[in-house]
Amino acid sequence: MNCCVVGLQWGDEGKGKVVDILAANSDIVVRYGGGANAGHTVIIGDERFALHLMPSGAVRPGTTCVIANGVVVDPEVLLGEIDGLAKRGIDILSRLLISENAHVVLDYHKAEDQLRETALGRDKIGTTARGIGPCYADKSGRSYAVRMADFRDMDALHDKLEKIVTYKNTVFHALYGAEPMRLDVIFEKCRHYADRLSCCVTNTTRYLHESMDAGKRVLFEGAQGALLDLDHGTFPFVTSSNASALGLGAGCGVPAKMVGKFIGLVKAYSTRVGAGPFPSEQDNAIGDLIREKGHEYGTTTGRPRRCGWFDAVAVSYSARIGGIDEIAMMHLDTLAGLKELKICRSYRIAGDETTFFPCDASELAAAECVYETVDGWEGDLSHIRDFNDLPETAKAYVLAVEKLVKVPISLVGVGPKRSEVIFRG
Ligand code: GDP
Ligand code: IMO
Ligand code: MG
Repeated sequence: MNCCVVGLQWGDEGKGKVVDILAANSDIVVRYGGGANAGHTVIIGDERFALHLMPSGAVRPGTTCVIANGVVVDPEVLLGEIDGLAKRGIDILSRLLISENAHVVLDYHKAEDQLRETALGRDKIGTTARGIGPCYADKSGRSYAVRMADFRDMDALHDKLEKIVTYKNTVFHALYGAEPMRLDVIFEKCRHYADRLSCCVTNTTRYLHESMDAGKRVLFEGAQGALLDLDHGTFPFVTSSNASALGLGAGCGVPAKMVGKFIGLVKAYSTRVGAGPFPSEQDNAIGDLIREKGHEYGTTTGRPRRCGWFDAVAVSYSARIGGIDEIAMMHLDTLAGLKELKICRSYRIAGDETTFFPCDASELAAAECVYETVDGWEGDLSHIRDFNDLPETAKAYVLAVEKLVKVPISLVGVGPKRSEVIFRG
């Protein structure tokens, strides 16, 4: 069966770990959206891998990794990952396919991301500065875009880059007083990227359909989380792709009906990096405790993550728009030691109570959480593999969340390692 793993909160739910676990039973793992803004952690024994563009199946020998058309590819980051994996004895080049239609993130995208955020000052989005927004903007704008297929004809690419760099330099100078970027430097980098990556560039839509026809099992790896979705998240405090499950079809050319199961990832609490409304945020000692116990620091930027209680209003919205079949809840172990826990079951907005998540940022900023309070538990859960062996209050917590979000919780994480999970049903 083909499966899709997708974040239901604001990212960093533990997708890397769950994809790595499920990749054991998959032939192909596909990244279909986002770019090097993602940071997916996979821990195998004592080894820790932080993957940004590479599908998390990369660490499983024999798995084919596909970077589909919906991803914005920063070749510098990708080559860094390829070389980093090679140094650790993992050959990926021979089993990596990159869509010819995937758009390319170049230096001027990263420069623009930073210049724009600096200019926004207090109103900044808090992006990862990886050039994601500017690259997707060029994709929609069409006239100044570079795709992986453009690496096939370097003369044509030179002409195209000349036009693009002239345009970008004019705009950056006029708006931000920025120093001009050099065409020759950007072009030489592209030549290097083309030399190294052209062997992987292909029609991945065709590859995926032919593979599925041949009975191969495909695992689709979401990036970011549904609440960061460009259309359905907390705009403008979102990323620039459809990071919910809805991004799958456009991101790789495979319709949702060919995916047997959508698995939504959550943490047992909530986190968010960057700016934007976060109703259940605990900007206090509780949030600090969760951050320290859960090592809640960004995998990509190292920024401290904002932490808060589990928000069932937000997650049931993400599950609903994504057609989520099952939920995997990570980090249950992190909550041990708290005397009592709160779960947000509804919002009060201007005196009215609602259980439907308003993604409008100003409406959400006005939302006040209505909580259910449950007892906490003590002790280390990381050795537990059977749901029935969990402390009664930990079980009750999972069941309370399940009841509120109305989707079965089939997997519970009790530690960062591959083995530290409880399968339920
Ligand atoms: P992703 O972006 O969704 O892949 O998540 P990240 O890798 O950015 O962040 C998740 C973090 O939680 C990583 O450091 C993981 O190693 C860690 N992690 C995943 N599952 C668990 C779990 O069940 N318990 C604990 N304590 N850590 C976990
Ligand atoms: P993974 O895949 C958490 C956030 C940024 C910022 C907003 C826009 O590891 O879950 P961008 O650079 O995309 O323009 O930033 O989105 N963001 C993430 N937060 N995890 C991620 O990815 C994220 N990718 C982007 O912090 O608030
Ligand atoms: Mg992450």
